[in-house]
Amino acid sequence: MSLFPNRRTIFLLISLCVFSFYRCESIQTLLESKQTKETETSFPQIQGSLEKRDRYELIGREFMIATDHPLASQAGVEVWKQGGNVVDVFSAASFAISVLRPQSTGLFGGGFAIVYLPKKGKWAYDFRERSPKKGTATYFLNPDGTPNTGKILKGAFSVGVPGNVQGILKIQKQHGKLNLADVMAPAMRYAKNGFAVYADLANVVTKVWPEMNPEMQKVFGIDDRPIREGELLIQEDLFQTLQRIVENEEKEWIDGETTKRVSLYYQNFDEFICPEDWKEYQVKQMDPLVSNVWGYQLMTMPPPSSGVHLVTMMQLYNEMAKRKTFPKGKVGEVIQITEAMRVAYRDRAELGGDPKFSEVPVSKLISQSYINDEVSEIEKKVVSGNWKPIPKSVEPKDSYNTTHISVMDKEGNAVSSTQSINGIFGAVQMVPGTGLVLNNTMDDFSIAPGVPNLYGLVGSNANAIAPGKTPLSSMSPTILLETNGATKLVIGAPGGSQIPTSIFNTLYHYLVQKRNLYESVSFPRIHHQYLPDTLFLDPELKGTFPETELPFYQVQYSRHRAKVFVVSKEGDKLIGVSDPKGEGVPLGF
Ligand code: DON
Repeated sequence: MSLFPNRRTIFLLISLCVFSFYRCESIQTLLESKQTKETETSFPQIQGSLEKRDRYELIGREFMIATDHPLASQAGVEVWKQGGNVVDVFSAASFAISVLRPQSTGLFGGGFAIVYLPKKGKWAYDFRERSPKKGTATYFLNPDGTPNTGKILKGAFSVGVPGNVQGILKIQKQHGKLNLADVMAPAMRYAKNGFAVYADLANVVTKVWPEMNPEMQKVFGIDDRPIREGELLIQEDLFQTLQRIVENEEKEWIDGETTKRVSLYYQNFDEFICPEDWKEYQVKQMDPLVSNVWGYQLMTMPPPSSGVHLVTMMQLYNEMAKRKTFPKGKVGEVIQITEAMRVAYRDRAELGGDPKFSEVPVSKLISQSYINDEVSEIEKKVVSGNWKPIPKSVEPKDSYNTTHISVMDKEGNAVSSTQSINGIFGAVQMVPGTGLVLNNTMDDFSIAPGVPNLYGLVGSNANAIAPGKTPLSSMSPTILLETNGATKLVIGAPGGSQIPTSIFNTLYHYLVQKRNLYESVSFPRIHHQYLPDTLFLDPELKGTFPETELPFYQVQYSRHRAKVFVVSKEGDKLIGVSDPKGEGVPLGF
């Protein structure tokens, strides 16, 4: 006899018991409850995370910044002390982190930012990479018509037209108080005087060393070998590029010495990025996507970010928690969370893309009628027990990069920004004489329907490559407001496809399970991204849900990659947490 009838029986029994013994709790009840749910107290912590709390959590009252490098947070403190505001802090930290985490982000990258200044307004900025004019779907096909996944993943053709410099300059000009030289000063110091190489940077330099072009090896090597932990990394060319940006501002990035040097490099690569690409680049400014969810107003980045899918995920969980048909308890929670994630990532795969090129039905995806219908479908499936995972799956490749900056002051002024060059050291190429590491963000496009990218994500024609188009992104910088508009929390993460689920997991533990902020960030996580049809659980969750109780999932225990950076307001306290998986710290006072 196959295992399936047994599994089904077990599942139905669990559902029946749960149905009989548990009162249905709406999310609102959960939010109002002062107690941690009994069923949750036995969850394990990530090993060692509690001991690290002193380093990764800070409480202040005036202002707080959380980033992935102590010196980037320090850059924020420095400009705050000079009379800067949260936007100056964001700009200083953004330029600084570009120098300090060249494996994660940089001037040749792109990103998103949400800015909330309660007395002035709220804005969303898309300064992500765009496809160059030459970027078309056929450009990345082999002569036999098959997709050339190597070409889009690494090297000079994997590069999108960058937006980080234009984006930071625009936001700074609109809302900053200090001048550009002041906010760029810490980054320039770190580039010119150098900083001590930390373990993660040393490891990835060694890992990608053979792929680096000679120019890049010169910067990240000493005596023709990869730079080591504890050695001083000086980036003189990058310092000069920063200096030219201070002098010429955005002109440097439209038709300056830097863009000329990039054009020279691209003479050997079919002029894939050409002078017109720089001239046509526009930072997009729009209203953030605002939605009421879990008792707060959630303000996030509209498409081509995945903010909308985070909202769908939270709404679906909310609706399942309200219905009496779903199992409760630990197993029930995992089933509800997993199913919410699965639907949200299915939407992402099928509909996600640049809204300028194809419609993303944002209002529909977060409407109550859509949520009701989807939950009814999940309900039928779960209660019938008649489903199995899609067996063929592609595992996402390992990658730790991208970065996030969360800032808030005591007035609730806040910035949430995620920035990236995509994979580890992006394209793993440096433009001679600039210190710029090229991104490999073209890989965030769907090279062909159903063909997975670096993160195992698939896409449809909505995310097909086209000139000037912005690739779909998992980056989802988010700010939460109380219903009266007071800022509650600033959050975001690097982590590729796992970004939306890292935010979901953290908010779930913080708002629903009422854990403290540090525990909520460091709690073992759950991840499902539709395809591969695999439930990824942090290794500490092994044994928490006997696999006989999760019969319909293909379970894999592996560490959630995303690193969460968050600042929350509790009364008059500002609490900052940098993910203990990372190298950063929150700073403030
Ligand atoms: O925009 C995206 O979805 C990706 N470029 C983000 C990459 C990332 O977070 C890598 N981190 N592990």
